Amino acid sequence: MSRKQSGCSAVGSAPGLGPGGRPFESGHPDFFYLYTFVPEIILNKIMKKYNFNAGPSKLPKEVMEAVSKACIEFDGCGLSLMEMSHRAKNFQPVLDEAIALFKELLNIPEGYSVLFLGGGASLEFCMIPYNFLENKAAYINTGVWAKKAMAEAKLFGECVEVASSADFNYTYIPKHYTVPADADYFHITTNNTIYGTEIRRDLDSPVPLIADMSSDIFSRPINVSKYAMIYGGAQKNLAMAGVTFIIVKDEALGKVSRAIPTMLDYRTHIKGGSMFNTPPTVPIYCALQTLRWIKKNGGVAEMERRAIEKADLLYGEIDRNKMFRTTVQDTEDRSRMNVCFVMNEGYEDLEAEFMTFATERGMVGIKGHRSVGGFRASLYNAVELEDVQALVACMQEFEAQH
Ligand SMILES: Cc1ncc(COP(=O)(O)O)c(C=O)c1O
Repeated sequence: MSRKQSGCSAVGSAPGLGPGGRPFESGHPDFFYLYTFVPEIILNKIMKKYNFNAGPSKLPKEVMEAVSKACIEFDGCGLSLMEMSHRAKNFQPVLDEAIALFKELLNIPEGYSVLFLGGGASLEFCMIPYNFLENKAAYINTGVWAKKAMAEAKLFGECVEVASSADFNYTYIPKHYTVPADADYFHITTNNTIYGTEIRRDLDSPVPLIADMSSDIFSRPINVSKYAMIYGGAQKNLAMAGVTFIIVKDEALGKVSRAIPTMLDYRTHIKGGSMFNTPPTVPIYCALQTLRWIKKNGGVAEMERRAIEKADLLYGEIDRNKMFRTTVQDTEDRSRMNVCFVMNEGYEDLEAEFMTFATERGMVGIKGHRSVGGFRASLYNAVELEDVQALVACMQEFEAQH
């Protein structure tokens, strides 16, 4: 019996379970079928889901297909990417192409290095002061992630909070503040994933500018030359979870007097070409596929056009629909990546009902963060206009029923 024929029994069972409800074991002949073809069936036919997760989040289907294939067999070499050495001669081209595409798509000037490391954006909160903070650093407090970054900086020196939007639960971006001219760097979070606020321009800064772009990288063209460093977790606009991207200006490093542990020193990873230790190979391969997808789809300028189109559609509906309101009033501050909204006055009691209503129509991941409440639809690059149209239709249907 072929694998496909023998696997027919799996289709009628719950995914992950074999006949009789027992889980498949990896040696079972149906295992290959289940994990190769069933995900394809689920992705394509069985469940139409609209994925608005905040991260990890929706990825282009062709990216997931390429990664799935590489996890079965990579590059025709008879091994899975998961079981190969990162020093194998066919992995280096993956890393090289990912770095080259990063530089090309973001128009990164000479003198910057691109790194792919582990540890998440949260490790960068600590590596940044380790590598850059000699006396004093300036931070703008736009929410939880900025606060976490500041908490790490305080372990290394003076941390000046130049402005904060805590007074209105981070629902706006502070505009009027002065960055101390003697700060070693100024840290910003360009997109505040939890609150749906975004700094959509490249700020001028009197001192080296460092930006957490975890949730808006590749959503617009950026002027990299204005930054000493840009970093983020990949699990929103770039890849599956497990890899952190770093764009760092080489000459901004080496200015602190403290000793830096080897693994926490950016120069180690520049020197080692992101291979000082074992890098997260599958997430890097995933990032490469997304970078190819962005290039094929018109680059960051086109990603920005799509982001504007999707965000305008959803904010437009929230503003129009009597049952909802956004939490971010100033249109200039509204994130194109994470759209936060709550039930309008008089309809607060219907929050749970709308959540159930939307879930029944295939909406996934729209529950707002617990510190904001209500709803949050994340519209990262892979989210299609059609997904947003479905959410808008769902909101209109709910309105029509009340
Ligand atoms: C803006 C921002 N910064 C940092 C983080 C933390 O990232 P990680 O989980 O990769 O440490 C997140 C996670 O959602 C985020 O949205």
